[in-house]
Amino acid sequence: MTGAAAALCVPLAFMPAALLCGEGVESPSTAPPLAQISPRAQLPRAGRAFGARSHGIAERGREHYATYCTPCHGTRGEGDGPLADVLVPRPARHSDAAFMNSLSDEHLFRLLKDGGPALGKSPLMGVWSRILSDEQIWDLIAFIRSLARQSD
Ligand code: HEC
Repeated sequence: MTGAAAALCVPLAFMPAALLCGEGVESPSTAPPLAQISPRAQLPRAGRAFGARSHGIAERGREHYATYCTPCHGTRGEGDGPLADVLVPRPARHSDAAFMNSLSDEHLFRLLKDGGPALGKSPLMGVWSRILSDEQIWDLIAFIRSLARQSD
């Protein structure tokens, strides 16, 4: 072994020990307590409207809502549009977060596309696929989700 190789060997041989020592010394002071690194802490808060937001754009849905839905459901989704009083059953309240959160995005999509009777609901809740594209329906869903959030 040459002198140069021996000189290299010495620091290399010490390295693992040095690393271990380093960790041993540092971990108590730098490692966060287990509670802080729990995966839950890293997750974004699960948004109730997450699915709809990823599909539709609430701002665009607002216009369709004003045109097609407010006569029965009211401008703020309170179920109090000008026609509401003569309808049996009454139009749903989109502002009711507990009620709206019980309905999945898929349910809402199917309801709007195929109409109330497709889901065992009143035919007063019509079939919108004749007027609205799938994209416009997703925009509406995003918008009605925002009505429920505002009233939380
Ligand atoms: C002619 C009146 C009328 C119009 C217009 C109308 N709805 Fe409805 N809607 C109803 C009635 C009545 C119900 C209650 C149906 C039931 O409970 O059987 C309802 C229920 C609903 C529900 C709740 C469904 C459920 O599963 O309980 C949603 C969501 C909804 N409507 C969204 C809309 C949207 C969005 C529009 C606009 C595209 C719209 N509605 C237009 C009358 C209407």
